[in-house]
Amino acid sequence: MCGIVGFTGREGALPILIRGLYSLEYRGYDSAGIAAFTKEGLKVVKTCGRIKNLEDKIREQGGLDCACGIGHTRWATHGGPSDSNSHPHLGGKDGHNSVAVVHNGIIENYLELRERLEAHGYTFHSETDTETVAHLIDYLHTGEQQDLAMTVLKAVSRLRGSYALGVVSLDRPDEIVAARRDNPLVIGLGEGENMIASDVTAIISRTKNYIILDDNEVAIVRPDSVVVMNEFGDVVEKTVQTVTWDLSAAEKGGYEHFMIKEIMEQPKAVADTVRPRIHDGQIAFEENGLTDERLREAEHIHIIGCGSALHAGIVGKTVIEQMARVRCSAVVASEFRYENPIVGEKDLCIVISQSGETADTLAAMRQAKAAGAFAIAIVNVVSSTIAREADGVLYTWAGPEISVATTKAYSAQLSALYLIAARIARVRGCISSEEERAVCEELHGLPDRIRETLTCKEHMQYLATLYANRSHVFFLGRGLDYAAALEASLKLKEISYIHSEAYAAGELKHGTISLIEEGTLVVALATQPALYEKTVSNIREVVARGASVILVTNDDFDGDESQCQQVVRLPKCMNRFSASLSIIPLQLLAYYIAVQLGCDVDKPRNLAKSVTVE
Ligand code: F6R
Repeated sequence: MCGIVGFTGREGALPILIRGLYSLEYRGYDSAGIAAFTKEGLKVVKTCGRIKNLEDKIREQGGLDCACGIGHTRWATHGGPSDSNSHPHLGGKDGHNSVAVVHNGIIENYLELRERLEAHGYTFHSETDTETVAHLIDYLHTGEQQDLAMTVLKAVSRLRGSYALGVVSLDRPDEIVAARRDNPLVIGLGEGENMIASDVTAIISRTKNYIILDDNEVAIVRPDSVVVMNEFGDVVEKTVQTVTWDLSAAEKGGYEHFMIKEIMEQPKAVADTVRPRIHDGQIAFEENGLTDERLREAEHIHIIGCGSALHAGIVGKTVIEQMARVRCSAVVASEFRYENPIVGEKDLCIVISQSGETADTLAAMRQAKAAGAFAIAIVNVVSSTIAREADGVLYTWAGPEISVATTKAYSAQLSALYLIAARIARVRGCISSEEERAVCEELHGLPDRIRETLTCKEHMQYLATLYANRSHVFFLGRGLDYAAALEASLKLKEISYIHSEAYAAGELKHGTISLIEEGTLVVALATQPALYEKTVSNIREVVARGASVILVTNDDFDGDESQCQQVVRLPKCMNRFSASLSIIPLQLLAYYIAVQLGCDVDKPRNLAKSVTVE
């Protein structure tokens, strides 16, 4: 999704803005731009394509010597990627532009506003909803209303939809006004300089201290002061937060891509998520607002998420139902919010999100809460909107995840769900304290099992050379293996652009098997001994139709593997936690295939890291 960065200080804003834009790249974008105050006035440079193109264009135009400016990476929504649709957008009439605006989010009533502004003589140069905001601010800023922050407050009261805004105006060349509704925005606090940004990765090179703007607030950001007002214009006191990780965590550290770095960081992500919650053979959540009483009494558990977070939730649903015998569903957030779900006051809602900002997940959580459910969020980004609005939070301590395709956050989500499953099972009397202790030991050892599994790296790199030329790949599995197959398939398709599908192994023959032909790659997952034979039968069905098969299974698999071209064996772990291991070789396979095909692994086309629009 789009990224915003803004800087106001004594001098040298350009390199800081450019660096901020680079650190927002991971969110996904198709164009970039900067508006800055130079000696010649307010200057905007923007272009379609990569930030490198923007740097070249700025250089060609003689540079931007400035101490204050705003920058943007755009992920197209209204109007395709083009120079004119790129942000910042200028607001003004007849070539007299008074303001420049960058925006994340969607303005739903932009067409209606556009018509009215056109009737007032404004000319539009783009197809975006954002240009409407720029002209609206200009329109309201003229006449008696001269205070930019008050103008922005007035303007946003006329907007429907979501926004994070950065606004600069000709009459205050050292001031940035920021506003937010349903889209994240932080304000970085420096010494004689301050910043605004969509997330802390864009400020961390200058400061670790920041405040979070809440919905409907507006901030006036100057080099020596930051003032935040609520929607009534009253000043509000904000709590200063501190980023807990340092810059190196958001750098590649010698790896070719963030994705492979993050794959290799999974043992640590899981250890950091699990170990603080285990005390003397017992799992404790009380500090996260998730009491034993709440877990004991939950009548139905709704797990909600999107994409990989949902896939983690599907694994979690199976593990919770198996261990705790409580009714549980895993639902796509964008469906949950519109399907009038049956949610009771004794229900527990587990919301999963790496970013903590996913618009559909947030809306679904709000809906579940409104229906009386207790919402616990499994979130990676500290103090993100979902974390702040949930009734309780279980942070996944995976550290910053930069690669668009999630790996370590997904693994950390799985381990958080195992902890919840085991604790529910214990408080409902489904497992004894000895069994809980055994589960804790297993979870304690899980990072080591993941580390062992990662030693298949070279093998997967080799397999990638064999199979990167396939156009279709099917991932098959039953139960937990099907849940893991969903994630494995998503990993492959999103970064390599190879068409892939995950199927419940027994379901394929009900239609989809007609797509299997000579050379189709099938990846079969079989980690549940009770289902080995069933999956082997399904492997035979696809082999009989010409498929090449990679089997991912346990070290002690004793079924018939003679039909499979390749076998990847996983270290021994409790069967119910196998999804944490089976995904590892398949993340690596996806990664190496994408590298082999020359894809932009960390920033796949059309994708965004933090999906803050519906
Ligand atoms: C896939 C991926 C996405 C996210 C999804 C939810 O690799 O990363 O499918 O899992 O967009 O994002 P969060 O977890 O931030 O809510």
